[in-house]
Amino acid sequence: MRVLVIGSGAREHALVEALRRDPGVSGIFAAPGNPGIGQHAQLRSVDPCNGDAVAGLAREIEADLVVVGPEVPLVLGVADAVRAAGIACFGPSASAARIEGSKAFAKDVMNAAGVRTAHSEVVDHPGELDAALDRFGPTWVVKDDGLAAGKGVVVTADRSAARDHGAELLEQGHPVLLESFLDGPEVSLFCLVDGETVVPLLPAQDHKRVGDGDTGPNTGGMGAYAPLPWLPEETLEEIVTGVVEPVAAELVRRGVPFSGLLYAGLAIGQAGPAVIEFNCRFGDPETQAVLALLDSPLGALLYATATGALDRAERPRWKDGSALTVVLAAENYPARPRTGDVISGVDATQANTEVLHAGTSLREDGALLSGGGRVLNVVATGADLTEARARAYERIAKIKLPGSHYRGDIALAAVEDRISIPARV
Ligand code: AMP
Ligand code: GLY
Repeated sequence: MRVLVIGSGAREHALVEALRRDPGVSGIFAAPGNPGIGQHAQLRSVDPCNGDAVAGLAREIEADLVVVGPEVPLVLGVADAVRAAGIACFGPSASAARIEGSKAFAKDVMNAAGVRTAHSEVVDHPGELDAALDRFGPTWVVKDDGLAAGKGVVVTADRSAARDHGAELLEQGHPVLLESFLDGPEVSLFCLVDGETVVPLLPAQDHKRVGDGDTGPNTGGMGAYAPLPWLPEETLEEIVTGVVEPVAAELVRRGVPFSGLLYAGLAIGQAGPAVIEFNCRFGDPETQAVLALLDSPLGALLYATATGALDRAERPRWKDGSALTVVLAAENYPARPRTGDVISGVDATQANTEVLHAGTSLREDGALLSGGGRVLNVVATGADLTEARARAYERIAKIKLPGSHYRGDIALAAVEDRISIPARV
């Protein structure tokens, strides 16, 4: 099988690494890819958001399967264009991708499916902001009502900070979404979904804030680990049968069946799991940890999902132990990051670790340069989280990039047994 992966981040690098381990995959192409991906896949340039261009490239390289990594191409219908060209595509149609692309659509589907989620209101006029804030909080959750890659969200107990963020979004012409605050530890559960068939992968947890101890602004994600030692099996079961399956069934009922990866972001609170958001693709950086533990062929699973055969596919198998990913971010991230600096120490090899590229580029002389906010991901596996953490931090310490930073506490709360699920009320 020849596979074309669309995207250019560490999530796509992790997908490529897992596809390489699949004996059924004979050729891997990536577009646009990045220098790390380019070590093991043939890179092609393409506008990932241009469906005709992606379909044309897939035809040219005789791809059997196209895997679309990021949400924006999916929301714009790139998977539809690939399928229309007669090529299997892992990723939902534009209509089904609205579960991520339109918060109003997602809320409507969840309400119809009887799935718990935050109560929300859209504010599109500055004159309405104060009264709306009074109906929520504390704690306030203020979001950009559109695709914002996790960075448009402010969660705060400080009313003036909430107000300032809302006013700033409105000034930029963006409607503001206010949400009730969902309490409890967060879970990212990725499920392969093919119509009504739902196959969960290992549960993971992201670390959204830039600083240790969950301080500072929200980012696209600073690290993740899987699986979650504190998450009871029955809660996981409850998420699959009480959240993801009803949503998948509701999408089928509406004539927009989902095909691809449905990502449920949840808070596990006193009343049980509640949905923070659905995404229509693999999450970043959780995928890097989840796929490090996959012990069965990824290509076969994605192909089965893409071709309507997930119900007959072999279930994923997982390695024992834990996996962890730590994001190395550029100076000043998540604000405007410093780029163009030489990175060293990436090529050193260390057992049970790998370095995935997120935002890098190659200089003409072959030097590796920083090229984005999140620059690299170090992924490590171990018998448990303590061992995976030790390996990841040993590895990341060898990487040199001026001004760069990373969180030192990825999975630390889980290791120290500081995460617990609130008692049910
Ligand atoms: P989002 O971009 O919607 O994933 O939000 C980014 C992060 O903000 C989430 O991972 C949560 O940590 C937090 N968040 C978003 N919505 C809520 C909510 N309603 N209640 C509590 N935390 C939230
Ligand atoms: N892990 C957050 C995201 O992928 O949206």
